Amino acid sequence: MQVMPLANIVARLKRNWQALRSGLWFRRAPYRRMDRLYLLEDPWQLASPREHQRFALTNAMIAQIAPNCGSLLEIGSGEGEQTAHLLKVAGSVTGIEVSEAAVNRARSTALDAEFFVGCAEDAGHLLGDRRFDIATACEMLYYAPDAARVLDALKGLAPRILVTAYEKRAQGLARHVQGTGWSRLDDIVVDDTRWHCHLWQAPELASA
Ligand SMILES: C[S@@+](CC[C@H](N)C(=O)[O-])C[C@H]1O[C@@H](n2cnc3c(N)ncnc32)[C@H](O)[C@@H]1O
Repeated sequence: MQVMPLANIVARLKRNWQALRSGLWFRRAPYRRMDRLYLLEDPWQLASPREHQRFALTNAMIAQIAPNCGSLLEIGSGEGEQTAHLLKVAGSVTGIEVSEAAVNRARSTALDAEFFVGCAEDAGHLLGDRRFDIATACEMLYYAPDAARVLDALKGLAPRILVTAYEKRAQGLARHVQGTGWSRLDDIVVDDTRWHCHLWQAPELASA
């Protein structure tokens, strides 16, 4: 068994204490199971050819929605498998991911991206006054206890939000991705698997 160095234990306790004081710890609590999932590498098999095709098709969609994208915010960046693809369609990619273990792996998978450990719900707090050309929430919204809260946080950070959702899990999200500013895009289809895609655009873009 490997013993964690004392300095790492102290650093972790310090981070947990800071998170507890700022209230972030409570917001991250519903996501503890994500950290457990990442005890194994690649828990969603995102390194598979099927998922890589999904990433390529997602990139094609982003290139249409936000041509010459300068900055992209990726919510739920996991171990960086999709991040590495997103770097091909955006000048810079910033990932926010609730699992620290996943972010530690992502940092060596997508070397040119930047990552924050935290909840999408706290994106404004984590990123201050930074703004992005587009935010993506791919395959992650169904894990949020309150998807509307995640989307509200993103609306303050980017004028476009791309949401993709595996069709068998998409129904529960439907009410969050309709109404003002929302449109349904073509599905992403790889073999017999289908993902629903939705775009939100800020009023100034929607009316342009
Ligand atoms: C199924 S993976 C998707 C990874 C990648 N976006 C993709 O489409 O392949 C979902 C990721 O979202 C993260 N996640 C879920 N809810 C989150 C939240 N509220 N804030 C940040 N990350 C979250 C999970 O920890 C997990 O790494």
